[in-house]
Amino acid sequence: MLRIQASRMLAAPVMRIDVLTIFPEFFGQVFDFGIIRRAKLAGIVEINIHDIRQFAAGKHKMTDDRPFGGGDGMVMKPEPLFAAVEHVLGTSNRDEYPAGTRVVMLSPQGKPLKQRSAKSIADEAKRLILICGRYEGVDERVNDALITDEISIGDYVLSGGEPAAVVVTDAIVRLLPDALGSETSAENDSFSDGLLDCPHYTRPAEFRGMKVPEVLLNGNHAEIEKWRFEKALDKTRRNRPDLSERGHSCPHERSEKS
Ligand code: ADE
Repeated sequence: MLRIQASRMLAAPVMRIDVLTIFPEFFGQVFDFGIIRRAKLAGIVEINIHDIRQFAAGKHKMTDDRPFGGGDGMVMKPEPLFAAVEHVLGTSNRDEYPAGTRVVMLSPQGKPLKQRSAKSIADEAKRLILICGRYEGVDERVNDALITDEISIGDYVLSGGEPAAVVVTDAIVRLLPDALGSETSAENDSFSDGLLDCPHYTRPAEFRGMKVPEVLLNGNHAEIEKWRFEKALDKTRRNRPDLSERGHSCPHERSEKS
């Protein structure tokens, strides 16, 4: 059930997100499900989609042009992006951005998105502008003058930044205060302690001959916590050996020592 506090609805959202894209329709209903929908309805986040083309000049409203120096593909022009940022923030001068503003370029050249970086944006930012790059790239003067962060969602090339804007929005919004509701917590998410999440089971206790591990049924919380930690460590070693290099200790044993 969706219970929304009246005081929350009257207050300004914790974060306002503005997405700049040449494909506004791409975002149709993508933010209208699950946790993001709930956070929007609860007034925790406001999300606006802006069509970059509306800020382009001339009869043809061109948002891209051929690259100086030659080469394949088209480059996104700077003027519509500067105009769009001016429309959204009231300025395109980075020194004049309202406090807590992050203007993010989504591109494969960006810094990789991590749970840690999503958390720091969720904790610190009040305004988030996500610019979806397209074509072969974006005029570098946009990065030089407008951008505070350049983010990549992984070492692969998408046709544009739109899917990345959805990923970044989801990763950040679920970490905003109260977005997950009281019944869930981001503390146990994969990566929040440098490990992948442990396996989960629900009823039935036996399904097509496959049994739920006995330890989860016996109600011994210390044993369950130890089992979950070991399974998380196993999975991390198998799937992400790069993460498992760091030292980890079982949260139960940690709390007993302190
Ligand atoms: N645009 C194209 N590829 C991308 C990626 N990997 N991350 C973010 N934006 C992108």
